[in-house]
Amino acid sequence: MFLQRVVVFCALLGVSWCTEDWTFPEGFKFGAASASYQVEGGWNAKDKGENIWDRFSHAHPEIIKNSDNGDVACDSYNQWERDIEMAKELGLDFYRFSLSWSRLLPTGLDNYVSEDGTAYYNNLINGLLAAGIQPMVTLYHWDLPLPLQELGGWTNPLIADWFTDYARVAYSLFGDRVKIWLTINEPIVICDVAYNTGVLAPGIRSPEHGANICTKNVLLSHAKAYRLYDTEFRSRYHGEVSLANQLVWFEPATADDKELAEIAIENVTGRYSHPIFSKEGGWPPVIEKMMAERSKEKGYSKSVLPPFTQEEKELIRGTYDFYAMNHYTSRLIRKAKEGEHTATWYFGGFRDMNAVLSPGSDWKPTASTWFYQYPPGIRGQLVWLKEHYGDMKFMITENGLATFGGLNDQDRIDYYESYLKQLLLAIREDGVKLTHYTAWTLMDNFEWTDGYSVKYGLYEVDFEDPKRPRVPRASAHYYASIIKNHSLNVVKPKNENDRLTAREEL
Ligand code: BGC
Repeated sequence: MFLQRVVVFCALLGVSWCTEDWTFPEGFKFGAASASYQVEGGWNAKDKGENIWDRFSHAHPEIIKNSDNGDVACDSYNQWERDIEMAKELGLDFYRFSLSWSRLLPTGLDNYVSEDGTAYYNNLINGLLAAGIQPMVTLYHWDLPLPLQELGGWTNPLIADWFTDYARVAYSLFGDRVKIWLTINEPIVICDVAYNTGVLAPGIRSPEHGANICTKNVLLSHAKAYRLYDTEFRSRYHGEVSLANQLVWFEPATADDKELAEIAIENVTGRYSHPIFSKEGGWPPVIEKMMAERSKEKGYSKSVLPPFTQEEKELIRGTYDFYAMNHYTSRLIRKAKEGEHTATWYFGGFRDMNAVLSPGSDWKPTASTWFYQYPPGIRGQLVWLKEHYGDMKFMITENGLATFGGLNDQDRIDYYESYLKQLLLAIREDGVKLTHYTAWTLMDNFEWTDGYSVKYGLYEVDFEDPKRPRVPRASAHYYASIIKNHSLNVVKPKNENDRLTAREEL
């Protein structure tokens, strides 16, 4: 290849910018991700049941930017073949997508399985495999069937059984071909962010109880679905199962804030990881203690963080085959000064810590208000996980940049380059066993309360056109080139028409 020749040539001349070798280890896999409600549309196609995002976006258009909703989204319900073609153009090793629970089980329960839903996912899975692309499937990416929400949703302890029944249907239908399963995407968002703010479906604000009860039930649901795979499917299908956690990294703002930063990490990462990945299981002790003390101060006779029984602890502990990490952003944290307004943020716990959170002064903002760029955060987070839970296999299951659009997305190219470099450093210098990287996202899609105003796609989607055409951005050429060369030693495209390094791929 021309490029490899250039690198060798530079190496001979000793030119540093291209001699530094940013090649990924053999066998390292690249993918891209999406999620059912964000791309599928077809919200009431055939026998599909209504889910909490259908209901929330229809009932509360005022909460969502431009009153957008996912009724049509990217129309992937009809355009799945184009999605596969794009995955092929990029040269992806795998494509991560989620199943819409209510497309497969319209009532949410397992007494009736939709033929249409089954056919849709079979087509997608078979089409990907025929193109040499592995499917990585998430069972739940935030779109709970409405009938289950009406029974309390994630705050009803029976959800663990409903979810496990759904998992059984999915493993039975697709487990012969799907070898990587993620049970639940980002418990912290569906529990903490949703119930702390009320601005995500189901639109219920209940910071003290909803968020914490949901957290416990989500962990139990994941664990039961994992155990089910172990007992009924693993020996036949030999797949791997985990859950995907959204991790925000925290750096101490001053040397005095180290302990506080550690508590913040336990609050965001530990609450959803310690019960599963630590040797002892259960809530992180520092968080359990903090929540118990604060609950007492507020007059509760019990902690608002529901305890686990010993049996529940054992059920949850060890229910993983790898760690799946979604990562976008970081924060500096410091103790609040006397009388200073303290952080509440989207996550619970912070209001009890007397802390102030901020981005670093030189961290670049993005189109998502909560998102500032800090590439070393992704490495710091992986090292923390390895140190706390052991030397296991890691996958990055989401990472990408928010912009306001445009095909010449040099900022996205720089983002991918800088974050991928940090991952290579984690692999080489910190010995992190990272095997997969997933770009968020394949194409622009319904970005929750930001509607279609914020863009994360490698492909641009025209949401004004009923056909929802998809066009590759400059970053798509860049990512394809990285995948093809298995290396960051590639020439960056100058704009969306510059296929210098990617001409053969796209
Ligand atoms: C979610 C995606 C979302 C992305 C960007 C992740 O937390 O899994 O659904 O689009 O962040 O906000």
